[in-house]
Amino acid sequence: MHTVPHAQGTARIGLDGQWRFQLLPAPDAALASRWAQIAVPGCWTMQEFDDVHGVGDRPQYTNVQMPWPDLPPHPPSANPTGVYERDVEIPQDWIGRRVVLHVGAAESVLIVQVNGIDAGISKDSHLAAEFDVTDAVRPGSNTVRLTVVKWSDASFIEDQDQWWHGGVTRPVFLYATGHTYLGDVRVRTTSAGELNVEAEVATSTREWAWGWSVAARLPELDGVLSARVDPGDTPPEELGPRFDAPDVPGRLRMTATLPDVRPWSPEEPALYDLTVTLHDPDGVPVEQTAYRIGFRSVQIAGTDLLINGRRVLLRGVNRHDVHPETGRVLTREELRADLALVKRFGFNAVRTSHYPNDPALLDAADELGLYVIDEADIESHAYADRIADDPVYLSAYVDRVSRMARRDVNHPSLILWSLGNESAHGVNHDAAAGWLRAFDPTRPLHYEGAIRFDWDAGHAVTDLVCPMYPPINAIVAYARSGRADRPLIMCEYSHAMGNSNGTLAEYWQAIESTPGLQGGFIWELFDHGLSQARPDGTTRWAYGGDFGDEPNDGPFCCDGLAWPDRSPKPAMWEHLALAAPVAARLVSCDLASGAVNVEVGNRRDFSDLSGLTAEWEVCTDGGPARRAAADLPSLPPDGTAVIGVPRHLLGGLPAAGETWLTLHVRNDTGDVVASPSLRLRADDRDLLLRLGDVTPSGSVTLDADGLLVHPLLAVPPALSLWRAPTDNDRYGGVATHWRAWGLAEAERRLVDVTQDARRTLVRAEYRTAAGVVRHEQGLTPVITPEGLEVLLVEETAVVPEALEDLPRVGTVLETVAGLGTLEWFGRGPHETYPDRRLAGFVGEFRLDVDAAFTPYIRPQESGGRNGVRRFRLLGPAGALAVRLDSPRQVSATRHRAADLDAATHHEDLVPRPGVVVHLDAAHRGLGTASCGPDTLAPYLVGPGIYRWAWTLG
Ligand code: GAL
Ligand code: MG
Repeated sequence: MHTVPHAQGTARIGLDGQWRFQLLPAPDAALASRWAQIAVPGCWTMQEFDDVHGVGDRPQYTNVQMPWPDLPPHPPSANPTGVYERDVEIPQDWIGRRVVLHVGAAESVLIVQVNGIDAGISKDSHLAAEFDVTDAVRPGSNTVRLTVVKWSDASFIEDQDQWWHGGVTRPVFLYATGHTYLGDVRVRTTSAGELNVEAEVATSTREWAWGWSVAARLPELDGVLSARVDPGDTPPEELGPRFDAPDVPGRLRMTATLPDVRPWSPEEPALYDLTVTLHDPDGVPVEQTAYRIGFRSVQIAGTDLLINGRRVLLRGVNRHDVHPETGRVLTREELRADLALVKRFGFNAVRTSHYPNDPALLDAADELGLYVIDEADIESHAYADRIADDPVYLSAYVDRVSRMARRDVNHPSLILWSLGNESAHGVNHDAAAGWLRAFDPTRPLHYEGAIRFDWDAGHAVTDLVCPMYPPINAIVAYARSGRADRPLIMCEYSHAMGNSNGTLAEYWQAIESTPGLQGGFIWELFDHGLSQARPDGTTRWAYGGDFGDEPNDGPFCCDGLAWPDRSPKPAMWEHLALAAPVAARLVSCDLASGAVNVEVGNRRDFSDLSGLTAEWEVCTDGGPARRAAADLPSLPPDGTAVIGVPRHLLGGLPAAGETWLTLHVRNDTGDVVASPSLRLRADDRDLLLRLGDVTPSGSVTLDADGLLVHPLLAVPPALSLWRAPTDNDRYGGVATHWRAWGLAEAERRLVDVTQDARRTLVRAEYRTAAGVVRHEQGLTPVITPEGLEVLLVEETAVVPEALEDLPRVGTVLETVAGLGTLEWFGRGPHETYPDRRLAGFVGEFRLDVDAAFTPYIRPQESGGRNGVRRFRLLGPAGALAVRLDSPRQVSATRHRAADLDAATHHEDLVPRPGVVVHLDAAHRGLGTASCGPDTLAPYLVGPGIYRWAWTLG
């Protein structure tokens, strides 16, 4: 068996499609006479088929724990086993040739028979296996049988945090070559244009391939590189083993240097077409293979990772092979679309967490331009320490690492090898690393398990310090400590579970300003929710437990920046803002004369700003937004230049009012890739001044509890101290305190209502289990110069010491039905929170209330907008306008916090007829505590006095 399918140029028979299928309860169970049909590739856990043996194997989700209690290396006796069979016609002209069966991936043990003859066995659910079936095939009809056993000793090193499935999950095909064939081709390049091609002329006979030759062609290169298998003076018996030493016949080397090479980088992924042809001793071409190669260099110099000689930052994301309909079967086009999505949101790197992906993903990364960390399929999480040193698993470690490396070594996008994930560190890793370093000295190694408890350790197996979820202060302290001798790149950080990714901006502030820090990989790209039919015919996103799977780890697999169907969540937009290729800084601003100058900077690593176009937008509170084309200067990487904003855009602005300037930058496909926003003018007038020359007007109507009665409000404005806990609040533990303090059901008691000439003052107390919050609400009705009746609401809350960490302090109200459109001036259009607020820009926005809500799979606090200055709810019922005293956190949704908290799936939520509005004096940050650090101190909401004011019109 070998795993290097280089024979693209050879004859192939695809075997994807419907196969005969039986799912047995165990490998030794007897086959029935009746066969079902099933699709290949496909997970049997995700397909409907005639389950003749009643095995009923469904997806199961576990994180660390194994799904069954047996100890390594023993699998359970209940062991679903899929038997796949199909017939294939072998053409006459394949007879006498070498015939190979390629199985893209099978989960997890694969046993192959052709025409009843054993062809081999393979493990590793995420790598292809190839079987030489030359002696088993015959002309005409043949039967291929693949037996796929779900559990084995190998399951203990495939204990990744994801769904367990079963099946043949990548394409299957047969191909034929001659008995002398291209066994391996290895390409090495540098960004200076050096090219080294090594080709192995392999034979399946006992003969040396004397006289056979290989030619390598590159259109950019004059002539052809070629080499020949030549015995020279060495007598054959002294040649030693054929292919495992470098200087043996059959292993041919060709070198050249390309003048004026265009180096490969994510920004300019220049690829060159290399063809390698095998010629027989008469010079007749018999086999050809093609590669798209790139010229690039990877080096580590001290604490810097250098690509093409330049220190770059890795804006990475972890990606699992996951698909809501198929489990984890993806087509070439889908893999490419996944990476296009990643690119579109400003990432330049992907970690194939936690196993090698279909090679089509690497092809797409080469073409689209993304750095890749290629990770071996080794995760022994549940029994990590025991397995890392266990010789029983030694060969599996080296096998998995070496097969991955041999398959993927020629991809320019691939810059780092990873030995696997969460498997502690033991001699098995040392062995695998030793093999890898000898095989490919051009790429550094990555392995988190080796530095988990000591960032100064593990040099044998990792050339990076690649921690998971470290706090910002820890990485900065390490980088500044003087003891760092490797680059620090976080292999996982900012856990995207639910409403999360708080303090991403602070991570990047630290990374960009601290030598030795070079970025990281957000955990993770996609929620693993699976599409599951509900009794009413609709579907929901299912997570652990939803298939009756026991044990399970619940929604912990719903932790992506995008939903299972690939639509981006708000945190994606935050990332895009942080990865902006263009920076803008206000240099001078004289609005009166219309002279505004902005310094524009190129934040790319290798390219100038060509391919980008830009537009200015000026927006004043109350005035219409205006736009005009912007001329981006020609700037090299890191270059800056000062440009002026066109005067006509600034002339005639309203005399007062907060004013913002945004530079919208688009890429060559028209997507906005940056919208840096600059404040040109603040507005520090108080709310009444902003309304103009108001006159007092009558009094307000209160109910018996001192709560406001208003025709557009179904529930009057009251104090809110609670939010539906986010996943971070739950897993991080803070929600437990909130529940113990009874924040959700804080009991309101009216203290008194007093009246002075100007306003009505309502004093109330909110009782929690940890003390009383005193609340005052001053209500002042006025009439504006336009004749509008407006109510000024001025509030104060005094939070006692015992309530040391609150989700929010603010106002909650609920409107009547018929106000379904939200308009606001503030940050938008995407959901934002105090510590994840950079997505979008400051301007005027309008959205349907339902569209402003973010449907996190397990419901939680959602739909917030940060920095809102004013908003309106509109609809058939009228218009409810609110203006805030300063930029504040606001949400307008159809869900009460208690309902969000009680629901387990978004699809179970029942929208309210009215709109539930929160406007907050303070709102706790999101942090990322479901796995990693909580939000930072400045984003916490603690004891003290809070004051806020707003108008209702
Ligand atoms: C990491 C692990 C990932 C995932 C994540 C939490 O520790 O490597 O596979 O489990 O935590 O979602
Ligand atoms: Mg794990």
